[in-house]
Amino acid sequence: MKPYGRHLFICMHGNCAPSEEGEALQRQIHQLNREHGRNKLRNPERVKCTLADCLGVCQNGPIVAVYPEGIWYEHVDSEVLAQIYESHIINDEPVEAHVAHRLYPAGQEPSYAPQVRGDEGEYQPDVAPSSIPATKLAEKQADEIDTALVDGAAIRKQIRKTRKKKGLVIVNTGQGKGKTTAALGIMTRAWGRKMRIGVLQFLKNENARFGEIKAAHRMGAIDWLSTGDGWTWTSQDMAETTAKAQQAWQIAQERISSSQYDLFIMDEFTYPLHYGWLDTDTVLNWLRENKPPLMHLIITGRYAPPALIEFADLVTEMRAIKHPFQEQGIRAQAGIEY
Ligand code: FES
Repeated sequence: MKPYGRHLFICMHGNCAPSEEGEALQRQIHQLNREHGRNKLRNPERVKCTLADCLGVCQNGPIVAVYPEGIWYEHVDSEVLAQIYESHIINDEPVEAHVAHRLYPAGQEPSYAPQVRGDEGEYQPDVAPSSIPATKLAEKQADEIDTALVDGAAIRKQIRKTRKKKGLVIVNTGQGKGKTTAALGIMTRAWGRKMRIGVLQFLKNENARFGEIKAAHRMGAIDWLSTGDGWTWTSQDMAETTAKAQQAWQIAQERISSSQYDLFIMDEFTYPLHYGWLDTDTVLNWLRENKPPLMHLIITGRYAPPALIEFADLVTEMRAIKHPFQEQGIRAQAGIEY
């Protein structure tokens, strides 16, 4: 079994530490990756690094989470990060002094599954020319010219492989406006291509008649699903909220597994995961098993859990820079925001 290409998430939400510190850590990781050759796509030990929204700790930052082990580190400054990289990333030894949280018991962390991640195939680290005896160098270069022709065919085969169709998992998250709007933009594009579309809004009132709902009715051939009775995340009754979240997820499961859609949108679905009304791992395992391979799935909402970000194919973070209400007290405009 190959080692997993790790994915690091750094909180830049700003409550646990200034977001600039997270950005500086990301730059440091990129630099370390370059130094260790772990920035190369074909290296199964490559390290990805993503600036994430709140990781749910909100103190003792900067917070850095390392996957697939699901280990959260706290108080990560430049020195600690260097230590984590050397000890955890390179030598598989977590830095216990800074561990804030573990998703799995120590020693029972998930292992890498290359057939799932598409990383099958051997990676050969670059060999420094200076390490090759001079008499062998010309021979090696001649071999490389010969094998380049063979490699050309292999590369073309690889390109054909990358053109394969796949139902994408798309996540629109972040604090800024536009997460649902972007999802509905894709919905419009899919509708134009006569794709079968379902939309399930997890938090919006079923009686709401926002502009996008009116548009979907006018466009026709879009299943706009209600989650039941207009529950919201402002509910004071957590048992009821959890039950409603599960009820809505049940509807989503039925629709997704029915294979009747080419595109399915779960609007505001990150909140039940973030607030723990639904178990993220259970949801993701179900999707792994049951999502039709060619069906595209879009999930929107703030606070996308790191495991969901890891699972998704395409993740976009909307960042708020300026807002008419916050700066000028201008209320939401019909046709623009709803
Ligand atoms: S703000 Fe950083 S973990 Fe929540």
